[in-house]
Amino acid sequence: MSSSKCTKFRTEPFEYNAALVCRDVPASLAAHALRREWSEVDLQVTRDEQAGYLAALRKVDVEFAVVEPNEEFPDCVFVEDCAVVVEGRALITRPCAASRRKEVDEIRRILRDDLRQKIYEIEDADATLDGGDVLFTGEEFFVGISKRTNSQGAMALAKAFPNYSVSSIKITDQLHLKSMMSMAGPGILAIGRSKEAKSALQQILQKSNFDYCTLTLPDDEAANCVYVKGFLLHCTKQEYPESYKVFEEKFPNDVRIPIPNSELHKVDGGLTCRCILVQKPF
Ligand code: GLY
Repeated sequence: MSSSKCTKFRTEPFEYNAALVCRDVPASLAAHALRREWSEVDLQVTRDEQAGYLAALRKVDVEFAVVEPNEEFPDCVFVEDCAVVVEGRALITRPCAASRRKEVDEIRRILRDDLRQKIYEIEDADATLDGGDVLFTGEEFFVGISKRTNSQGAMALAKAFPNYSVSSIKITDQLHLKSMMSMAGPGILAIGRSKEAKSALQQILQKSNFDYCTLTLPDDEAANCVYVKGFLLHCTKQEYPESYKVFEEKFPNDVRIPIPNSELHKVDGGLTCRCILVQKPF
């Protein structure tokens, strides 16, 4: 990991004790989930991947809140896009894709009633915001201005979280900002090595108030990992051997949990897409 000077980062924003997840993959995902390039999907393999993901979250001992798979919403396993949750506040997003708009209703109910988060809504009818475009570093937000998220969506985020700065990052090729980056720990920004990832990093470094350690992964997809309770859910050796090597070198074995994602990746799903991490009040 490299940084000219590494600021001391707060750990509290990452102290999650609950995860909102989809119990299983709906059968409709195979034929109808959105994907940038058409690819056949093996439903059973996606289900095995989701079961492995839930098992990993059980291992790290977070409480589960579960949304049932809904056949009307082929992308519903990707709960991350439906809300941005930080320190007890939950902004319900407005996903850009029409087929995903109503996914937020059940997510809102669970966040409010089961996880006791304070709900914020987007008022601007022209705003679009997918949670996959929102990177919370623990200190500030970055929002991908993408095919899915517009500047009105970024403004809605800033309004819901006035205590944090929100910077927009222009992206062109990737689906979401987090298709090529995520937080691998407090102050540790995991980032891919594509041209687009490098451009996003440059924008982040220009706009940021903080000096993050960057963990550069050879594969953009592998830069999407989940840091929770001191554990790191990341790519498998089979899928991304070079990136796996980086995780192996930088993190102790007992905090790393490799998670298969090759089938869900065919419908543009990364590891962060499959949960919303929450600090549930005691
Ligand atoms: N398949 C995930 C998405 O396009 O939103």
